Amino acid sequence: MTLEIRPLTPALGAEILGADPDRDDHFEAIHAAFVEHAVVAIRDLRLAPDDLLAFARRWGEINVNRFFTPLDGHPEIATITKEPEHDTAIGTDWHTDHSYDAIPAMGSLLYAVETPEIGGDTAFASMHAAYMALSEGFRHTLDGLRAWHSSRHVFGTPEPEDSDRHTRVGNAEAATQDALHPLVITHPLSGRRGIYVNRTFTTHIDGWTPEESAPLLSQLYAHCARPEFTCRLRWQPGTLGIWDNRATWHKAINDYPGQRRVMHRVTIEGVALG
Ligand code: SIN
Repeated sequence: MTLEIRPLTPALGAEILGADPDRDDHFEAIHAAFVEHAVVAIRDLRLAPDDLLAFARRWGEINVNRFFTPLDGHPEIATITKEPEHDTAIGTDWHTDHSYDAIPAMGSLLYAVETPEIGGDTAFASMHAAYMALSEGFRHTLDGLRAWHSSRHVFGTPEPEDSDRHTRVGNAEAATQDALHPLVITHPLSGRRGIYVNRTFTTHIDGWTPEESAPLLSQLYAHCARPEFTCRLRWQPGTLGIWDNRATWHKAINDYPGQRRVMHRVTIEGVALG
């Protein structure tokens, strides 16, 4: 099988066709595309849960998610399911998974089991492209800052009884993580500089109050979400998306009322950021 890699936008993302997850040479090419494009969508796979886990282990050690419902018999796979009767979906605001951990996860593999006919895409944004579009002087100012991230305000409140977020474990007492990271990081694989704050988990800039931090963070959030820094991944059953948390934001697009979407997610451990 010939492997074909098609970039999605100039900023980030690539679609990969003809991949055989058991071949070492294909894994190397997929990994290189991941470092270059930060998000890859491998098409037309047939991955039973054990196959997904075997492929995930090629990427590193698996991080067992504290807050999402595991797949029956496979605690390392988190389920992200939206039923036709659910109004809300998981992860619909821009975020970077696990930025609240001292050593944030590298990224996730998200495998599409069942998808709406149309809709249910995931959007991604390149934090390197967003950083490079800033003036040198502003980049220099950001380079000297660090920011706090927390899981408490997102996962620390028990879901209300009538919530339809059935994919959450509701493990609110486990939401005790606070972490300090540079506001701009050097990517551990590509060496590229990129912005590392996100609207969901970042609480404030180190040494500043949340109120003092809000105008600068809001300005960065608006800047990073500019369409020229983004791509959209359109899922089909059998698509495996893999994204890098150190280089991207992502958000699920909840535009498929009355339809079902079932995804299996495996998260891979990362390294300390600097
Ligand atoms: C997530 O934030 O991990 C969910 C992404 C998605 O369901 O598209």
